[in-house]
Amino acid sequence: MAKIKPSKGAPYARILGVGGYRPTRVVPNEVILETIDSSDEWIRSRSGIETRHWANDEETVAAMSIEASGKAIADAGISAEQIGGVIVSTVSHFKQTPAVATEIADKLGTAKAAAFDISAGCAGFGYGLTLAKGMIVEGSAEYVLVIGVERLSDLTDLEDRATAFLFGDGAGAVVVGPAQEPAIGPTVWGSEGDKSETIKQTVPWTDYRSGEVAKFPAIAQEGQAVFRWAVFEMAKVAKEALDAAGISAEDLDVFIPHQANERIIDSMVKTLKLPESVTVARDVRTTGNTSAASIPLAMERLLATGEAKSGDTALVIGFGAGLVYAATVVTLP
Ligand SMILES: CC(C)(COP(=O)(O)OP(=O)(O)OC[C@H]1O[C@@H](n2cnc3c(N)ncnc32)[C@H](O)[C@@H]1OP(=O)(O)O)[C@@H](O)C(=O)NCCC(=O)NCCS
Repeated sequence: MAKIKPSKGAPYARILGVGGYRPTRVVPNEVILETIDSSDEWIRSRSGIETRHWANDEETVAAMSIEASGKAIADAGISAEQIGGVIVSTVSHFKQTPAVATEIADKLGTAKAAAFDISAGCAGFGYGLTLAKGMIVEGSAEYVLVIGVERLSDLTDLEDRATAFLFGDGAGAVVVGPAQEPAIGPTVWGSEGDKSETIKQTVPWTDYRSGEVAKFPAIAQEGQAVFRWAVFEMAKVAKEALDAAGISAEDLDVFIPHQANERIIDSMVKTLKLPESVTVARDVRTTGNTSAASIPLAMERLLATGEAKSGDTALVIGFGAGLVYAATVVTLP
């Protein structure tokens, strides 16, 4: 048997830069009320959402990703040619093949970076980050771009009271690179496919094509079931991620949960007994739920506003359709 040389990577990985893109059109709750029987007060009190962004024809999944990535690359202080991997997490890119990651890798000017898409719903950023860390430590790339991007407005049934107000569009990106000290903790992740019915596309594309259903597919959910799962189960996963990283709630500077609903965020803060000193991301108020994009977008905003700073210790946790989840502790770029 021939002896195979082991691959050689960096000792550790860290997030080096972050960037975000929010579509130019800001959509207030009033617009949502044109198609569902609700009220601004109800939407705000049940979800925390005041506005969200909806993409126009030019703000495609690729275009938004390229904008966010350009900022992340500049923030990291590297050049696009140094990027060896591009991972795009999305559920709302409407072209099945090729992966949109390849177009993004090309347009950014990477040197033929390995590029692929993943589908892990609202946990997509954490899944991508974990893969990126593995690639860097294993040695198959020095720098990896992780993008979370969604055009959920394309997959929203504006007549569905349970979801019409929830979703938004946008892209968030981070550059992950080599580090001499641990800066991305162990990931606590998993899936609960037995609950796959709680958040899902209404019907397969083929049912729409065949005319079996007249309405374009959209994302539907059992709001209360998802809410309960997020509140009870995800706080446990977040605690496991803290334990895995060997830190306590008191050591945290920042908490960046998936921006699904502000009441879920409030409940997790309480269950985790986070001290007042911990900055909590509440980007959901003005960005809505952007699934895979929500964590990097929230991270970018906290750093841009000065609410968080480089070097802060942050707990990130994503959860959603699958059901899937991923939580880890990171050092902010
Ligand atoms: C969607 C969500 C905000 C709904 O809130 P809820 O408190 O569970 O609402 P319910 O479906 O139990 O309905 C409660 C009442 O509000 C009403 N209601 C439902 N949707 C409404 C709307 N859009 N506007 C006004 N009233 C509404 C219901 O008819 C019901 O009225 P009733 O008490 O008279 O019967 C909430 O379930 C939620 O946030 N779930 C998690 C969603 C999420 O984060 N998903 C993504 C995870 S990745």
